[in-house]
Amino acid sequence: MKRYKDIAGDGGSNIAGQVEAQQGRLRQRLASVRTIVAVVSGKGGVGKSALTANLACCFALDGWKVGVLDADLNGPTQAKLLGVRGRRLVMADGGVEPPRTELGVKVMSMDLLLAGDAAALTWDATVKDEAHTWQGAMEANAIREFLADTNWGPLDALLLDLPPGTDRLATIASLAPTLAGIVVVTIPSEVSHLVVRRAITAASHTKAPVLGLVENMAGLFPGPDASRFAADAGIPFLGSVPFDSALSIAADRGEAFVAKAPWRESVRALKRIADGIRAALPPRRA
Ligand SMILES: Nc1ncnc2c1ncn2[C@@H]1O[C@H](COP(=O)(O)OP(=O)(O)OP(=O)(O)O)[C@@H](O)[C@H]1O
Ligand SMILES: [Mg+2]
Repeated sequence: MKRYKDIAGDGGSNIAGQVEAQQGRLRQRLASVRTIVAVVSGKGGVGKSALTANLACCFALDGWKVGVLDADLNGPTQAKLLGVRGRRLVMADGGVEPPRTELGVKVMSMDLLLAGDAAALTWDATVKDEAHTWQGAMEANAIREFLADTNWGPLDALLLDLPPGTDRLATIASLAPTLAGIVVVTIPSEVSHLVVRRAITAASHTKAPVLGLVENMAGLFPGPDASRFAADAGIPFLGSVPFDSALSIAADRGEAFVAKAPWRESVRALKRIADGIRAALPPRRA
């Protein structure tokens, strides 16, 4: 029996060539995406996904072309949050057309693939039933395909909603050559700060700058001061979003809360944070 060391080269499958071709496709696809921003937290359930969806809507309201990639393959929520759950995926121009929200936000999520026909066409390798969990290298491959096979078109910003934990950040940073920055989310509790501190360290190990810390669900617990936490960690503080049950209800309905309820304090806070992120990103070309 042949052992791996007896096989010279790659056994004729030209793996190096295939990887090169896929990387080329990825580079080409992302050439029209001006900035990519990853939203992360070491901690689960702090509102990363809700924040990503709302920030995308803030950018869209300001006239930006925006996309959201749900990089949480095992807990995809963006299709639901952005109100496009159940939409069919359509093949066009060698890729998949992402559904658009009323505000024009383009959304791609594993949740959209599980039911659609386009899934079987393009993402042969990645389509699994809902009980399947994605891990390690397979997850990285699936995210690479999502990035490369979606017709994002020209975008000012592509927001990536990451799963909880820190281990996916390095994968994303290596896949997204134009990763312009990382937004870190916490909630006001010492436990959250403890875990989020590790996410900040993981983020600082990537080449992308940490754009800042967002405190979400402010006021829900009498937690430690988030701006001081950011200062201690050496990153900017982008602001606090108050706990607002109306935000959560809108999220469950897939409504664009920032457009529906602009008077609410939580929406004002989200808009200020969106402005802060925009100011920290490279300027738009004229
Ligand atoms: N500021 C807020 N006020 C009230 N509810 C909020 C707020 N932010 C998020 N939520 C709600 O909290 C819940 C968890 O939010 P979300 O799913 O966005 O967290 P997550 O960090 O993405 O979770 P996971 O780690 O599982 O991906 C959701 O029901 C969401 O609507
Ligand atoms: Mg989430």
